[in-house]
Amino acid sequence: MTLHIRIFGLLWLTTALVFACGKRNETPDADTDSDSDTDADTDADSDTDSDSDTDSDSDTDGDSDTDADTDTDSDTDSDSDTDADTDTDSDTDSEGDEWVVFHNGGFWNDVDGNRIEAHGGGFIRVDDLWYWIGEDKSHNSGNFRAVNCYSSPDLVNWTFINAIITPQTHADLAASDRIIERPKVVYNESTDKYVMWLHWEGANYAAAEAGVFSCDTVCGDYTMEGHFRPNGNMSRDDTLFKDADGTAWFISSADENSDLVLYQLTDDYLDIEEQTMIIWTDEWREAPAVFHDGSNYFLLSSGCTGWNPNQGTSAWAPAMDGSWSALANFGDNTTFDSQPTYVIPFHGTKTTTYIYAGDRWQDPDLVSSKYIWLPIRQDGTTVNINYYETWRLNLRTGEWDANDGFIPQDGWSLVYVDSEETVDEDGRAVNAFDDSPSTKWHTEWQAGGPHAPLPHEIQIDLGGLFDITGFRYLPRQDADTNGLIANYAFYAGLSTDWGEPVATGTFPDSRDAQVVNFPTAIRARYIRLVATSEMNGGDWTCIAELDLLGESAN
Ligand code: DGJ
Repeated sequence: MTLHIRIFGLLWLTTALVFACGKRNETPDADTDSDSDTDADTDADSDTDSDSDTDSDSDTDGDSDTDADTDTDSDTDSDSDTDADTDTDSDTDSEGDEWVVFHNGGFWNDVDGNRIEAHGGGFIRVDDLWYWIGEDKSHNSGNFRAVNCYSSPDLVNWTFINAIITPQTHADLAASDRIIERPKVVYNESTDKYVMWLHWEGANYAAAEAGVFSCDTVCGDYTMEGHFRPNGNMSRDDTLFKDADGTAWFISSADENSDLVLYQLTDDYLDIEEQTMIIWTDEWREAPAVFHDGSNYFLLSSGCTGWNPNQGTSAWAPAMDGSWSALANFGDNTTFDSQPTYVIPFHGTKTTTYIYAGDRWQDPDLVSSKYIWLPIRQDGTTVNINYYETWRLNLRTGEWDANDGFIPQDGWSLVYVDSEETVDEDGRAVNAFDDSPSTKWHTEWQAGGPHAPLPHEIQIDLGGLFDITGFRYLPRQDADTNGLIANYAFYAGLSTDWGEPVATGTFPDSRDAQVVNFPTAIRARYIRLVATSEMNGGDWTCIAELDLLGESAN
């Protein structure tokens, strides 16, 4: 391994730790422009006033404008501080590039440590900040609570700005069975207003209307303009798309979801100018999301299976009004357990990465829904999406890759586990090192079955020699709290004669990934984690993922 790769690896690992799982409590100063961070915070506080969010020809269009990435001034603060929890200066690599890491499968927190509540969301870039606008499901219900707005300089560190629509926004929103879904926002240059379209519902999804709101600022308190059936059609799952020439389009599911209809908006975006076309009849598409790659338009959508996932499809057309291609599958047959909500066009100096933003609904309940973001690989007019538990994006160049920064788990095998549940759920120990936060090792718990007391332990053969500098424990990411580890001891060695632990401690009562750094690297082939107490005083141990920091010693 060359020195360059070693340095890069260290910085990359640090970056991964800093950004993964929303552990940071501050906006990144390596955002290359600390002024804009300050501005962001100021905006956050004063967003309902006349902040200057007006330079917003920006990027809802997804075309090839290159203003987006701003980051060429990287104040490349390349000190190689490895204290990931407290120092963010090393977010840049030795070439001055800033990378951010997306971590799929777990909960995402905002910079204040609160769960991000922006489901079915849309995105808009205004000046140097991204805004994420989506549904609040923190009450574990499909009924309306709020539409929230967050801002971020880097798509990873999000600051809650405002609940921009609430039951108090308009009397029509106050009904207890009101449902509001899939809000999307675009900016109108001629009126200098942000315009939101969304899916407006009542009990049993019978209203099937579009709702329109507007505001002077992107994250301000929106005013209701109306709710109605566009051109008399039912209107459910929806999206908005603003073209490079300012034309804005609304797409929604109609006729009990059997059809997908395209509408052109009026110049002020507050109404339907015309029904342009029925894109598909009897194809039963939901969850539309559009992007434009500079040549063609792409339309992602899902089938109609309620909150359950299904096979995602893409189609393309040379113009919004067609003609649209046949549907082609992308991803796996559950779209990696997600449903599209938006495609974020991230323009860098070298390339544009289109990011599939999906919702993993009901995981296992609505309050536990996750966000699944994946880079789209385009091959001409074919849309390919692979699943990566972790992937990263270069904020300067726009390039992405799928190095997750931890020692690869592929060569690992289980040496010993004292207890694993295999009857009432898949709690096998190997789930702790399968690169998937959605699966977990859980000790036995089935009713009437063996129920071993603590301590519990897992021993793993790494399949080769590694210099280990730390480990990461990811607690279970589903709704339950059984098995969250409190006290632990971690061992590593060249054999399974374990000797003294390398690290002992107590994890906080949190679902966030916990990183433990060792004072010096330990050469090891085998590792062992022993849980000696459980957060709730129970007998169980559960681990979603166990990862190692370090590098191969071979
Ligand atoms: C699928 C839609 O895409 C969601 O927005 C939501 O309406 C669920 N159906 C409700 O079952």
